[in-house]
Amino acid sequence: MTTPFAGYTRTTLDDRLVNPEAYADESVLTDYATLRAEDPVHWTEPAGFRPFWSITAHADITAISKANQRFTNRQRTYLAPIEAEEWTRGISGDSHLFRTLVDLDDPQHMKLRRLTHSWFLPPNLRKLEAEIAEIARTHVDHMQLLGPDLDFVNEVALWYPLRVIMRILGLPTSDEKTILRMSQEIFGPQDPDVMARSKLLTSETGMAPPGSGNPQVDLFALVQEFFVYFAAVTADRRATPRDDLATIIANGQVDGAPISDLEATSYYAIVATAGHDTTSSTASAGLLQLIRNPPALARLAADPSLLPGAVEEMIRWATPVKHFMRTAAEDAEVGGKTIRAGDSLALFYWSGNRDAAVFDHPDRFIIDRSPNPQTAFGNGVHLCLGLHLARMELRALFAELLPRLKTIELTGEPRNSVANFVSGLKTLPVRVTWA
Ligand code: HEM
Repeated sequence: MTTPFAGYTRTTLDDRLVNPEAYADESVLTDYATLRAEDPVHWTEPAGFRPFWSITAHADITAISKANQRFTNRQRTYLAPIEAEEWTRGISGDSHLFRTLVDLDDPQHMKLRRLTHSWFLPPNLRKLEAEIAEIARTHVDHMQLLGPDLDFVNEVALWYPLRVIMRILGLPTSDEKTILRMSQEIFGPQDPDVMARSKLLTSETGMAPPGSGNPQVDLFALVQEFFVYFAAVTADRRATPRDDLATIIANGQVDGAPISDLEATSYYAIVATAGHDTTSSTASAGLLQLIRNPPALARLAADPSLLPGAVEEMIRWATPVKHFMRTAAEDAEVGGKTIRAGDSLALFYWSGNRDAAVFDHPDRFIIDRSPNPQTAFGNGVHLCLGLHLARMELRALFAELLPRLKTIELTGEPRNSVANFVSGLKTLPVRVTWA
């Protein structure tokens, strides 16, 4: 089918929506704008992928996210090529290797989510505030020691949320590189630079290197690594409970029975992965926008009361999770289109966050944007469990960093990772002078 869409064919546009390169060079933002204007609920048939509806308007993304009975998660969580989906089905019998919260529907989803729900709410998180501020301080101290020239992504942003995750799960800091490598490989297998960094970490941790040449084989090996690593954590916390999130997960009960090893490992895996790359990418994207907007940087440094709003704008701008999928449980009407039961839908959050129907000047970074109903954390029953933690971490980092900066400038081209699911900056070379 070759219906023209703003200068290129429909086939080209469909392919671009799943093409990791279009996320790296951000050209997909132009495609999203085209779709919001011309076909916000767009039947998409990219080569090598099962077809789906592309949902690009903020209002539709929000409405579908909230309608969890009609649009479910279990069947298809994220965009993967047919070959990868078939391979996963061959191994696990369905479309998932893990059983994380985002792979499940209620009632099982809610039963598992409840185990940690209150742990992630502000009253509990406030107990960690001083410790997170201290972790932010040590990471900015480290940044200051690195000298004027450094790569903010690789030397600061990747490590700071990781240390927080290690702390909340109660994992030893000596395992940081192992966890970093595993979370990077889950989200970064489309990017050769991310995999090269991972190989370097592999040699430093003495673990078996990825790179069989077959992405599915590598992914399976990675999943096995998760299981081996976290099975030991579960056994340890069942034998010797401690005051950490891993203990809550390991000893979690659903319907009066302990949760399975698969459920426990999936739980650690989503906290470790979802809690890391997302916050790290947002911190890097936020700093880049401040470097590009010196008056905003100066205002923010002078007035910390602007920080919560600025963090919200960083999250809108970065939208590190580019999509999640839903599947229609019954026939439905969205934006005048008939969605058939069984059809899948991709909720393109980055597009929703640039929707001019909701945001004035959506392509401008405005630190005191108000209101800012950004949709980067999703909505409905799967609303990001870690959103308060993510905001707290980002506020703590910038509260520590900004007063110490005298000048900061780019010394090279920032580059994004080549990935269509969770993506963001993979390098941000800067020169800093300190106040
Ligand atoms: C779910 C984004 C940080 C843990 C999600 C979802 C999105 C998202 C889009 C799916 C929502 C939906 O389907 O409606 C983000 C962003 C973050 C971030 C943008 C940072 C800026 C974190 C952190 C943690 C975390 C720090 C934990 C330490 C989770 C979990 C889920 C989730 C466990 C699954 C919730 C469920 O299905 O019930 N996140 N996330 N996230 N996130 Fe986050």
